[in-house]
Amino acid sequence: MEHLMRAATVVALLVLSLGTACHGALQYGFYSGKCGFKDVEAIIQGVVSARFARDPTIVAALLRLQFHDCFVLGCDASILLDGPSSEKTAFPNLSVRGYDLIDEIKAAVEAACPGVVSCADIIIAAVRDAVALAGGMPYQVPMGRRDGTVGLASNVVLPSPFMSVQQALQIYQQKGFNVFDMVLQLGAHTVGVTHCSFVDGRLYDFNGSGKPDPSMNTALLNDLKQICPPQSSTDNIVDLDQNPTSVNRVDNSYYRQLMQNRGVLPIDQALASDPSTRWIVQLLASTNLFPPLFNNALVKLGSNQVLTGTQGQIRKNCRAVN
Ligand code: HEM
Repeated sequence: MEHLMRAATVVALLVLSLGTACHGALQYGFYSGKCGFKDVEAIIQGVVSARFARDPTIVAALLRLQFHDCFVLGCDASILLDGPSSEKTAFPNLSVRGYDLIDEIKAAVEAACPGVVSCADIIIAAVRDAVALAGGMPYQVPMGRRDGTVGLASNVVLPSPFMSVQQALQIYQQKGFNVFDMVLQLGAHTVGVTHCSFVDGRLYDFNGSGKPDPSMNTALLNDLKQICPPQSSTDNIVDLDQNPTSVNRVDNSYYRQLMQNRGVLPIDQALASDPSTRWIVQLLASTNLFPPLFNNALVKLGSNQVLTGTQGQIRKNCRAVN
């Protein structure tokens, strides 16, 4: 009986997750034939793999870049625009990394065929390539996004790590995503780092109690107290996936850690206690469903509110409108 219910749950999850992916005017193989005999996506892949070989943390930088781009005015590369009041200057974006890699990729594709490949597509393709290099399952992603012309810090509305699951979910739902999308996308926290300033509250003064978060695994609490001593003058970095063998690997370790109360950010651990998300975390932690569902979640995130056809422009330089 139990395994029947579990199978039904898996099918429901797949249907809910896969059934809602809509790519609009985006197309698989969009760039084929648009650059003579040159393979644009292979050029992107080459630059990403060269960087990944030197710096495997680039997978985390790119995943976060995709999230912060696609959640604000859709996936239009608005986050890449420079300027005194640009999106880059908004608080949640201050620690976003990877802009230099996007510049490097853009230079390579412009050299091969100028004015053809959008910065918005470059972000999405680079994430796909980095995920596959970092142990994720290879996947295809439709292309044809165009670049936006507006990028303002005042447009940046992103969920905070201190929100409850229900508060974060409200923001997700306003963007057209459901609870499965949210839990799956947060699986990106299987790579990358945060800072002690986002974790201190859970270590020393949980909800004003003057005590640690009682839901935190004791060994993790002791480890994190070493990395983040009280009243430290430096804001040290902390791996989001606390499984030392999986720090830069795209796998389901994040969910397995959550099931052991070893989540780092408040929002991460909250996924394992809220009744609307706990069962999804449990399922992803205990099966092989994560790789294909994560890919699907990234494709759906990458199809959010895109500009296509004659909308927007193909920027010459990702940091400025033409
Ligand atoms: C409720 C949603 C989310 C919240 C509240 C959240 C919050 C955060 C925070 C606070 C950090 C650490 C920032 C710092 O210490 O400088 C972070 C890092 C990160 N986030 Fe999220 N995030 C969310 C969803 C996502 C999604 C959907 C993705 C990608 C699909 C993502 C990918 C990442 C990655 C990879 C890092 C590490 C970045 C690095 O190493 O440079 N996050 N996130």
